[in-house]
This record gives sequence, C-alpha cells and structure tokens, in this order.
Amino acid sequence: MRRIGVFTSGGDSPGMNAAIRAVVRTGIHQGVEVCGIHRGYAGMIRGEVTQLEARSVSNILQRGGTILKTARSDEFMAKEGRAKAAAKLKKKGIEGLVAIGGDGTFQGAVALNEEHGTPIVGIPGTIDNDLYGTDFTIGYDTAVNTAMEAIDKIRDTAGSHERLFYVEVMGRQSGFIALDVGLTSGAEYIAIPETKTDIDELKSLLKGFRKDKSSAIIVVAEGDEQGGAFTLAKKVKDASGYEYRVCVLGHVQRGGSPTSRDRLLASKLGYTAVTTLLSGASNLMVGEVNGKIVLTPLRETWQHRKIIDPGLIEIASILSL
Ligand code: F6P
Repeated sequence: MRRIGVFTSGGDSPGMNAAIRAVVRTGIHQGVEVCGIHRGYAGMIRGEVTQLEARSVSNILQRGGTILKTARSDEFMAKEGRAKAAAKLKKKGIEGLVAIGGDGTFQGAVALNEEHGTPIVGIPGTIDNDLYGTDFTIGYDTAVNTAMEAIDKIRDTAGSHERLFYVEVMGRQSGFIALDVGLTSGAEYIAIPETKTDIDELKSLLKGFRKDKSSAIIVVAEGDEQGGAFTLAKKVKDASGYEYRVCVLGHVQRGGSPTSRDRLLASKLGYTAVTTLLSGASNLMVGEVNGKIVLTPLRETWQHRKIIDPGLIEIASILSL
C-alpha cells in the first residue's frame, strides 16, 4: 500500500484525536501516505480528503472531539452510496482504511469491504464501551470521569436540600457508563438496560432514604427499559409520592480532554491498526483484552454482546446501604 485513509464516524469520543495522531505518524514511519477523510462516510462519498503530515496532527493528543469531524450518513447505508464512496477512494488513490468509531461505523466498513474489497481495520471509539473484542473503548474512561465529577457536584446540592435526584447518563443500549459511575459516585440505585429495573424495589429503597439519609441518587442509563430518568422518576413518584429533581448529563459526557488511560489506549490501538492494515489483514478491530492487544473480526464486535459484570450492581447496592 502506498496511501491509506483514516476517518472518524458516529458519535465522537475523547481520545479520537490521539488515535488519529497515532495512525498518521505510524503510517508515515512505515513509509505510506496518510489521508484524513473528513465527516466520516458522508465525507467519503463527497471525496473530502486531505493528506496529513506528521505536523498536521501536532498538539491534538490532549484535545477532545475529532479534528476530522464526524457524521452519521444515511446515504452510505445504501449500496449506491457505498459505490460512490469506493469510487472516490479509488480516484484519490486510497488503498486501505482505518475506521475509528462504534458498531455502526464497523457495519459500514464490512459492507464496503464485501462489496468493493477495500481493506479496513477498525479502532473502537465510542463512550458507550459496548463493543465486543476490547475491555475498553476509546473515550469511555473520560466519559465516566466526567459523569462522576458531575454527580459529585449534584451530591453536594442533594445533601444540602435532602433531596432525591435522578441522573441520566448516556448509553443507548448498554449500562457500562451507568454501572461504573453509579459505583464510583455512591449511587443508591443504578438502572441499566441489561437488568430489570424494579419500581417496587426502588420504592422501598427510597423509604429507607427518607429515614436516615440526607440524599439519594439514582443513576439511570438513557436506554433503561423503564425509560430515561424523567420517565422513571415519574413512575416512582406515581407509586410513592417522592419529590425529586432530574439531571440529564447528555453530551457533556462526550467532550473534554481525554484521560491518560484513553490517550494510552488510543496511541496503542492507532499504532496497531496501521501495522495490521499494512501486514495485509482486513476486517478486523484492534482492541485490548486483559492488557493484551487483540484482533477481533469486525463482524463479531457487534454480533457478540459484551457482558456487563452483574456483581458490580450487588457491590454498588451493598456499599450504598
Ligand atoms: O453512541 C454514543 C452516544 O453518545 C450514545 O451514548 C448516545 O445515545 C448517542 O451517541 C447520542 O447520539 P447523538 O449525538 O447523535 O445525539
């Protein structure tokens, strides 16, 4: 390969810039040209490509967001869109791709590879941590720390007013953020899509809070089967009469300077993605499992479900007695 492309797609996550930097500099070190494709698959279809030099990625390691911008593209979901993208890649002389994103990004990558033969290696970049084949995705650690700091602040005001708070964190289909942040911020209850959220259990737990606790915090993953924080709070109020406040942390969790763990992971995975692609492999995601870099077929990253640790829920509930 003489020229490869790198792009970010789907929801951004802190550490994507660190991964781009690693890809660009590893590529140059290995003697290939590296092009940045702007705005994910949407930009690929439009041919939004610029060549990146070692200095093009200076001073981005510590920055949140993605210098390449990101997008979700409906056009790329159709065969015609992918054919346009493949034609643009050919015209620009791009012979292989490094895709940084989540399951939607990888599904697009596999379709492009199967229809047009473009070699692709994926790097897991999403705050949700919901990809099989890696213990952590890039951005997850930063998002959990951001949410934890926010909940610490909510705890101050909750305690002063002796209030019950529902705090909604991101996680459309998974409770990884909610579980970690619930445990590390001492939440009284954690509602996640992977386990049943029981209104009666919540009701009796809150009775206890009224007896001898000055505040209570319920962390709710946005994808919980009972609904988000507003819906869950209303259901519990209807059943128990408890007053409450709701705070939805939302996109705050997607921004900010990446933590050291995210920068480290992004640097290792960015480097390995390029060496893997240049070795002739394709349709693989680079990840880290038990501290070791591993390669997983892209398809498995969304077809196999990464399991949460149910033991953590029990620990959280015991420790918040
Ligand atoms: O997949 C990452 C994520 O942040 C989810 O947690 C969240 O549900 C979704 O993206 C939000 O997407 P958007 O930025 O398009 O509103």
